[in-house]
Amino acid sequence: MSHSPVVPHHIAIVMDGNGRWATRRFLPRLAGHKQGVESLRRCARACVQRGVAVLTVFAFSSENWNRPQDEVSGLMDLLAGALAREVPQLSKDGVRLFFVGERAGLSDKVRAGLAQAEAATAHNTRLVLNVCFNYGGRWDIAQAAAALAARGEPITESSLHASMGMAHVPDPDLLIRTGGEMRISNFLLWQAAYSELFFSDRLWPDFDEKALDEAIAAYGGRERRFGKTSEQVQAAHSDRQPA
Ligand code: IPE
Ligand code: IPE
Ligand code: MG
Repeated sequence: MSHSPVVPHHIAIVMDGNGRWATRRFLPRLAGHKQGVESLRRCARACVQRGVAVLTVFAFSSENWNRPQDEVSGLMDLLAGALAREVPQLSKDGVRLFFVGERAGLSDKVRAGLAQAEAATAHNTRLVLNVCFNYGGRWDIAQAAAALAARGEPITESSLHASMGMAHVPDPDLLIRTGGEMRISNFLLWQAAYSELFFSDRLWPDFDEKALDEAIAAYGGRERRFGKTSEQVQAAHSDRQPA
């Protein structure tokens, strides 16, 4: 029996550690965020090459507004600049962009940039890249419930799911956090219910193809039981093998 490597359909990443990467080099934190954009470009391309269908990244949390004002405005400018620079190449690579998060509260310029990038890449089919920006898992659940309530619709697991920001993709199979912290920090609270978690000590700007392959290999070694017993999972698995 030959085993092909198990590539997760959907990888989600908390891209953490940009600030520390810069501080260790006696650079301003924003230099770390700039390097973080490079790392994201490399990671997206690696995902395309490996046949990953969906990549979801945490770029700015609902709580990141509490950072020093110059860092927040630097991050907004970085996003606007990165959109202008990166979208043509991303599009050539077959990447379809979605921005997930609260758009109110973003400047008109940033909002227009997001909409434009989504429209410009809407025809692409190789990789869905969800960028969670001004996103929080609690915000997402609450806004979905509020939308259903406003329409007088029943609140169920499936109606909530359909009203949340990630309704266009299946739940993440593998959730990676770089930067060494072992917490979720209000990322995909609902969607990560059965994601395999992988924590890397690498800072996000240092997270390269090799580090991605380590995470994918670790994922390949996991047994996903979804509440069942190991025996049930293995029986179902051997049913699927050709005789
Ligand atoms: C993650 O890197 C990027 C954002 C939150 C925007 P950090 O900026 O949190 O980096 P550290 O954790 O301070 O090193
Ligand atoms: C999570 O990182 C948010 C992003 C990567 C965008 P943080 O650096 O904000 O998380 P905490 O504050 O360490 O939990
Ligand atoms: Mg951090």
